[in-house]
Amino acid sequence: MTNTALITGSTSGIGKAFADKLAQEKIDLILVSRDAAKLDNQSKELTCKYGIQVSVIAIDLEKPNAANKVFEAVRELGLSIQLLINNAGFNEYGSFLKTNLEKEKEMISLHVIYTTEMMKLFLPDMVNNGYGRILNLGSTGSIIPCPNDAVYAATKAYILHVSKGINAELKGTGVSITTLCPGSTKTEFAVKAGMENTLLFKFFVMTPEAVAKIGYKALVKGKTSVITGVYNQLMVLSSKIIPPIIIHSITKKMLSSE
Ligand SMILES: NC(=O)c1ccc[n+]([C@@H]2O[C@H](COP(=O)([O-])OP(=O)(O)OC[C@H]3O[C@@H](n4cnc5c(N)ncnc54)[C@H](OP(=O)(O)O)[C@@H]3O)[C@@H](O)[C@H]2O)c1
Repeated sequence: MTNTALITGSTSGIGKAFADKLAQEKIDLILVSRDAAKLDNQSKELTCKYGIQVSVIAIDLEKPNAANKVFEAVRELGLSIQLLINNAGFNEYGSFLKTNLEKEKEMISLHVIYTTEMMKLFLPDMVNNGYGRILNLGSTGSIIPCPNDAVYAATKAYILHVSKGINAELKGTGVSITTLCPGSTKTEFAVKAGMENTLLFKFFVMTPEAVAKIGYKALVKGKTSVITGVYNQLMVLSSKIIPPIIIHSITKKMLSSE
């Protein structure tokens, strides 16, 4: 059976690294993001380099009904997917008193509603076929609450929590859901959010290729969750041992742009 993977947010950063990694593994791809021209170039490049089949869907995933449209587009392509990587995301960073509510609602739509809808739509076929792998993008913020980035971290906490719950329901079906929790990673993410000068993005920043490699291994093995890199693992571990008041003050400093 040929494997086909659908990757959202494939045109940049971690999603792009996933597309490259899966293409190297000779997995056919359906690439999803907003920029049709970037998707076409990426598709041509990967087809030419790896001889795989690449389809593209250009769509804004924050908009209502986006998941249904993606599901229908996959049906129209006559494809079924075995691997689903819900990676597209962004950060409306800053103190809660200053952040933009409309942007936060878009972020909640993309991270929370869209991810949930995608699992609701694609899981039944995977379960019927007895095989499927879903990887959802969390963050170390899925585990550690983040002052100065509270809503973003809360959306990522939802992703980890819902994924773990559904994954436990799926035991024995051949289908699993993995949550990938990266710390700071060198992509366009921090620059778009205006947080590239925070301490968080000054030290122990990983490459998207290293993050995707860890994620792919965990996805194939059907692991429940994975935190990328020893530094991030230690940070999460200490957040469970050190009193919350101290952890919150350290996190606030690391996420401060002043
Ligand atoms: N970088 C980090 O430090 C870090 C840490 C932890 C977790 N993460 C998570 O990792 C994931 C990937 O982020 P990244 O760092 O690779 O960021 P990135 O370089 O900014 O890439 C984001 C990708 O998502 C797509 N995207 C964003 N909004 C979209 C929308 N509304 N509809 C369709 N596509 C959309 C973008 O394409 P278009 O804009 O062209 O549509 C792009 O391909 C996100 O979920 C992020 O929260 C990142």
